[in-house]
Amino acid sequence: MKRALILLASLSSLTVAAYAFDASATWGEQCAKCHGKDGKGDTKMGKKLSIKDYSDATAQAAFTDDEAFKAIKEGTKDKTGKVRMKAVEGMSDADIKAMVTYFRTLKK
Ligand code: HEC
Repeated sequence: MKRALILLASLSSLTVAAYAFDASATWGEQCAKCHGKDGKGDTKMGKKLSIKDYSDATAQAAFTDDEAFKAIKEGTKDKTGKVRMKAVEGMSDADIKAMVTYFRTLKK
């Protein structure tokens, strides 16, 4: 009985892992082209858009988690209304929260 329970527990954690949103992979796929893997913005797009170095604590302190959430969810625009960062597609609010948490880990 005990063994069956352990098996069940490990099986369910496997399922969770398989379906869990992977913030790190998403960062690499959707965000790193502008922000760079390490968040430094040291990419062609990053330079073009003059994106801040988000591995820097001061840059990270310039916005709240709520603002980061909004920026990811809705995207950002410049003063003339031109899109700078596109709004994400197909992410739940929980996924976006995971992205904010991941973004904070870029701070060195
Ligand atoms: C097309 C390039 C581009 C992509 C792709 C991109 N960003 Fe950004 N991001 C920017 C720019 C530019 C800024 C700076 C804000 C501004 O100047 O409008 C920014 C700023 C941010 C900020 C700070 C927001 C604030 O309030 O200052 C966060 C957080 C962020 N990005 C997260 C992400 C995440 C997560 C992804 C991937 C899902 C992503 N970005 C993909 C261009 C991009």
